[in-house]
Amino acid sequence: MGEQYGGDHQDFRGGKFNGPFTAKAEYHQHGPAPTALDALPPKVAGFTGRSDQLDELLGAFDPDGGEASGAVLVAAVSGLGGIGKTALAVEAAHAACGKGWFPGGVLFVNLHGYDDDRVTAEQALETLLRGLGTPPEHIPNGVDARAALYRSVLAERERELGAVLVLADNASSAEQVSPLRPGGARHRLLATSRSKLPQLGARLLPLGELSPGEAYDLLDRALRIAAPGDARVVDESEAAAELALLCGHLPLALQIAAALLVFDRDKTVAELVVELAESGDRLMHLDDGERSVRAAFDLSYRRLPAEQARLLRLLALAPGPEVTAEVVAVLDGADAAPVRVLDALCRAHLVERGSGRGRWRLHDLVRVFGVGVVKGDAELWEEGEAARERV
Ligand SMILES: Nc1ncnc2c1ncn2[C@@H]1O[C@H](COP(=O)(O)OP(=O)(O)O)[C@@H](O)[C@H]1O
Ligand SMILES: [Mg+2]
Repeated sequence: MGEQYGGDHQDFRGGKFNGPFTAKAEYHQHGPAPTALDALPPKVAGFTGRSDQLDELLGAFDPDGGEASGAVLVAAVSGLGGIGKTALAVEAAHAACGKGWFPGGVLFVNLHGYDDDRVTAEQALETLLRGLGTPPEHIPNGVDARAALYRSVLAERERELGAVLVLADNASSAEQVSPLRPGGARHRLLATSRSKLPQLGARLLPLGELSPGEAYDLLDRALRIAAPGDARVVDESEAAAELALLCGHLPLALQIAAALLVFDRDKTVAELVVELAESGDRLMHLDDGERSVRAAFDLSYRRLPAEQARLLRLLALAPGPEVTAEVVAVLDGADAAPVRVLDALCRAHLVERGSGRGRWRLHDLVRVFGVGVVKGDAELWEEGEAARERV
């Protein structure tokens, strides 16, 4: 679906917002000394299933793992958009940190491999180096020089603090990732990608949709997180299984569908199944995976109050991978970010919390959807143009 991510909204992504790196280091220059560890996004609430894959990743991260001796270990999680690659990587990173395996911290870099303005390895190295505390004026040009400096900074960090985990999210090619390999035997690099990247020589972990049981559990958990007594999934277990199937057992679609039930305590699972099936029918031109997410987006978007729908469209046009409260306010044409509206969009699972307080991001499929909505309507297009001018 990355190809659909074209269009003019990329013009918004230049300039100072175009940081591929979501470490606090880049944005809070005046705060206390940043640590790379701050860059790890929060865990997904209600993370469900994937226990084999988590075990496998932890096996690859284990600094004392026999297979790691002498070799730098790289692991790559691959799969469709919305399948849960980032969520799994983040979950595994938190688990590894909980075991005290990466006292040197976690670096997180979004390579945007499926956007038109992909981040090059050279750009990624710059932001990784900054995250490691290297002053910008000390960062050389050229991918080889940067990679060499990066490895020596990491070696120093290993001596002083310990091993570092580098998460490279959304890689589309081995060239984007290879130069990010740390030196030393204890650091680890984990890449996520829609493609398998066999050229990396990494431990490959292809991620498929959830099992029907996991998908069902995800729905049940999501409802109970919002209201512990909500037993609709168990009470309507057949309809819930059908709902999970209509969502393609795809976590992103499942979370959005669950949010629709959370919003409407009177809606039965069977009613949502009918609505979702109708929405999916209109999208017959899409293949299965895409149809499940698009149908869920569609349904969710159409029920949004006007101010939420508008903010979602503006966020889809926002520059860069994450937006700060300041940028949201400017997009919105207001003095302050509309936090209440943002919170509502988070609950709808259309917006996610970014790395750190007061930061938000859209899943790239939601962004593609939002851009599609804007492009299909002249009035909305103008609204977006005006917001772009404000930024
Ligand atoms: N195992 C899981 N359990 C619960 N929710 C999940 C799980 N995996 C992913 N999600 C949810 O689905 C959404 C999409 O997952 P994400 O990791 O962003 O997909 P990808 O990186 O593969 O595009 C996330 O917002 C997250 O809330
Ligand atoms: Mg992702």
